[in-house]
Formats: sequence, structure tokens, C-alpha cells
Amino acid sequence: MTNKYSITLLSGDGIGPEIMAVTVKVLKVVAQQCDLEFDFQEALIGGVAIDATGNPLPSETVEMCRQSDSVLLAAIGGYKWDNLPREQRPETGLLGIRAALGLFANLRPATILPQLIDASSLKKEVVEGVDIMVVRELTGGIYFGQPKGIFTTETGEKRGVNTMVYSESEIDRIARVAFETAQKRQKRLCSVDKANVLDVSQLWRDRVIKMSEEYPDVELTHMYVDNAAMQLVRNPKQFDTIVTGNLFGDILSDAAAMLTGSIGMLPSASLGSDRPGLFEPVHGSAPDIAGQNKANPLAQVLSAAMMLRYGLNEPVAANKIESAVLKVLDLGYRTGDIMSEGCQPVGCREIGEILLEVLQS
Ligand code: IPM
Ligand code: MG
Repeated sequence: MTNKYSITLLSGDGIGPEIMAVTVKVLKVVAQQCDLEFDFQEALIGGVAIDATGNPLPSETVEMCRQSDSVLLAAIGGYKWDNLPREQRPETGLLGIRAALGLFANLRPATILPQLIDASSLKKEVVEGVDIMVVRELTGGIYFGQPKGIFTTETGEKRGVNTMVYSESEIDRIARVAFETAQKRQKRLCSVDKANVLDVSQLWRDRVIKMSEEYPDVELTHMYVDNAAMQLVRNPKQFDTIVTGNLFGDILSDAAAMLTGSIGMLPSASLGSDRPGLFEPVHGSAPDIAGQNKANPLAQVLSAAMMLRYGLNEPVAANKIESAVLKVLDLGYRTGDIMSEGCQPVGCREIGEILLEVLQS
């Protein structure tokens, strides 16, 4: 029996369309091989949506996403839209779709691939064997807390305000995802906060400790975010699963990503309580190299693998994609961001074609 899935594609801006094109080809081949059927539909988000409709997240896009089985997003943003008012910025579209789909849990793996160990800016001994999963809360915290905005005080001075807020239920549901994620890994969970200064972090810590009673098999530790940033570059191997709030997770997941040599390799999954999930690379739209065939499509391709694994429960197809990516690296092909001595430099399209050949061989 053929499993059929409707997939909304949000290619967005910058390198988005290039890396999405490669990924769709990969999915089509895997569909044939695994007897799956994908019904792809494209929708607008970010800068392209602003240009076409004046809105970074048109309501048709939200509707289409809601009605599909899964959403695959590439990247949003670019210089062109950087000076628009906040409601009209591409980033607002991204935050909007995360909120609209209730995607409170963002899983960002940072795994060192032996093939890319020389691409890391850190010493080989430090990064060899690193395998971290950052579980970032995605629909709360300072990104969404009220009040927010730029207000004018009585004296005529402007004040910028954002509010870091977490309620118990928001902490509990992300903590649960994190404990369950850790259970499937090395069973070590480090909760990152700033409980020495922030009340919101104190509540976070209290609730995570409470939740740990239900997961006696998981070893729970706590770390302040400044120390966590330092430890990630000092001794990243101490981490297995990290759980943290929206802003800290944004920052730490970029740092963790870079341990692996390139943010161009890292996928992510954003999940809510029910379908559909949204799958996107950790990197952004890289407007500086957009349209030049220089982008690394592998994080996007691996995001499609995460979609198959976590969103559609098709692990065989996910494994096929992941093994093919490793094989391409084994063969020595590299885009610029992961290039190292003795390897063969290729562009976005070329690495995509090689990937298809490997998949079909
Ligand atoms: C990310 C990005 C986004 C975020 C931006 C583009 C809104 O940095 O997905 O990490 O801050 O969440
Ligand atoms: Mg970020």
C-alpha cells in the first residue's frame, strides 16, 4: 500500500529556492523507492510573500500548512526587507507560522560527522564524537511575551520592551519533550537557564526538577546560560540533550551548530501536540550567496529526512536520505562552507545531482 502525504513547501527567500529544489528531487526519488506518494504544494512566506501580498505570512499559507501532513521550510529574510516595520518583516512570518501551528518544541541536533571533522574551527580532540540535541522552546519566552514594543514615555523618551515569560504549562510540555528525547539518547538532560538572575528561569528550573520525578532514568543537570555557552566551546562532549527557552535556545543552537563545522549541515524539527510539524534547516537565507549556486543544500535535505522520521513516521525513507548524504561526503564532494583540503568543490546543483546518483545506485 502506498502511503500518501501532502507536503507544503515554503521555499522563502535567499538560497531557499535553490536548496528546496534539490530537496524536492531527493524526496521524489525516495518516494519511488519506498512506495510513498508526496503531493507537494508551494506557498509564500517571508520576503517573497511581502513582495507578492504585502504580508510575510498570508492567511492562505497558514491554511495550506494546517491542511497538509507536513511543512518543509527553507529560509526567510534578506537585506531588501531589513528596514521594514516589524509586522512586515520576513522574521515575523516565520514566528507567525510557528505560533499558528503551535510548534512549541524545536529539536536541533548537532552531530559531528567524521567526514567533516576538519571543517570545525575547534580542535579535532574537542569536537570528535560530539552528538548534542538542543530542545528549544519555540512559541513562548521573550519572543512572544507581552508587553512588547517601542513605547514613548511621558518625557518623550523611547523605551523598547520585551518580556520574558513562561507559564508552568509551557515549561512542563517542553520539559516532557526533552525528557522523552533524552530517554531515546544517552539519558542525560541539561536544562539551561539564568536562574541566578531571572525569576522566569527560577520557575523554569523548579518545574523541570518537578518533572524529573517522572523520568528517574534520565540524569538531570542544570547550567546557567553563560556557562553553557562557554562549556559548549570548551568541552562539548559533556552534553547529550539540552533543554532551554526560546532566546537561549536560539543562541546556543547556533553555537552548537558551529561545532560541527558548518551550520549548512544542520536540520531541525519543530513539533506541536498534533500534526503537522515543520522542518527547516538551522541556517538562514544567506542573501550574500543567493542565486550563485554556492549554497549547501544538505541541511535542507536532512530536514526532509527529519520530516520523514519525526513528522511522517517513515524511518526507512529517512535512513535512505541520511545514508546517501554521508556517502556523498565519503566520496569527497563539498560545497564551499564545508570545503577542506583534498576534497572536490561543487555547487548546490552539482552536489544535489551526486546525491541523486548515490540514492539511485
Ligand atoms: C532561528 C532564527 C529565527 C529565530 C529568526 C530568523 C526569527 O534565528 O530559527 O533560529 O530567532 O528563531
Ligand atoms: Mg537562530
